[in-house]
Amino acid sequence: MASTAAPSAIPPADLESFSSRLKSSTRILALLGAGLSAASGLPTFRGAGGIWRTHDAMQLATPEAFDTDPGLVWQFYNYRRHMALAARPNAAHYALAELSGRKEGFLTLSQNVDGLSQRAGHPLEKLQLLHGNLFDVKCTDFYCNYVQQNNYTDPIAPALAIPVEGTDPTSFEARHAVSSALLEKKTRKELDIADESIYLPSVPAGDLPHCPECKRGLLRPGVVWFGEALPGKTIDTVNQWIMDSKKIDLILVIGTSAKVYPAAGYVDMARSKGARVAVVNTEQGDARGLTKDDWFFKGDAAIIVPEILKGVIGDVR
Ligand code: OAD
Repeated sequence: MASTAAPSAIPPADLESFSSRLKSSTRILALLGAGLSAASGLPTFRGAGGIWRTHDAMQLATPEAFDTDPGLVWQFYNYRRHMALAARPNAAHYALAELSGRKEGFLTLSQNVDGLSQRAGHPLEKLQLLHGNLFDVKCTDFYCNYVQQNNYTDPIAPALAIPVEGTDPTSFEARHAVSSALLEKKTRKELDIADESIYLPSVPAGDLPHCPECKRGLLRPGVVWFGEALPGKTIDTVNQWIMDSKKIDLILVIGTSAKVYPAAGYVDMARSKGARVAVVNTEQGDARGLTKDDWFFKGDAAIIVPEILKGVIGDVR
């Protein structure tokens, strides 16, 4: 696996105390968020990356947005699928997959829908996808239960094809490059360009992917949108794992703002079972409520995670 990771500046005492806890831990949870995949080139939700062509990613991730403009929402998800397929797992995905294979009592709760943990070889039985998967699709018709997993068709419908860069100055890629450059410097609130200034083709519902089974319903991405319940089976599995644990030794909280519930609530649930918390994040402000027994490792997960896990997994880079 290729790695561009530079050495990090983890205080040796922190590394030592964490390694010792990790070695002795037999029940470990990991809560993963978008920051884990940032080094793979996928944008996070909150902060500058959380804007897609001046649309707030979180406002597109709702059933209401899909009802109002399924063409817009599908363009967003088709783009995310395309980006995720083009991205590669980074050293942190591989390190976590390795740790998961080595520690029997290990469970990963991922909020990520990008498929990178799976592609890094994370044992699937130890990976719970709290927010679904970009590569699952399901029928929206009330009377149809059609679900398809592992749908990697890109574009998912011809009308959603992303124009090849350079062929058209108003092309999707060209416009995205412009908006990304702007957004690197500015957050959405600071933007003074109007939504209309970036052209969005309107894709009629008839050109969107339809259910091959009932032939009536539109397909939608198999992700959890705001306002929707998390998959019942996933929640049951996670709750059972926690209930079955007399004690949890450690929870790793990696690359997440831990603001979205119920995912964020697992940190407190683990703590109530005795877990010490280790946060890996580029922002200290996103590591709230840590005690003196916890760890905060500041920096890029792709660099920090392999380093802090090295004592157990060795050098996997
Ligand atoms: P967020 O975008 O809320 O947070 C990403 C976190 O990663 C922030 O705390 C960043 O500081 C941190 N971060 C950024 N780059 C990093 C890096 N290279 N290494 C380590 N940390 C880094 O993403 P999530 O917490 O995953 O839900 O968001 C949770 C949920 O909210 C998502 O699953 C999605 C979203 O809206 C739904 O769509 C339902």
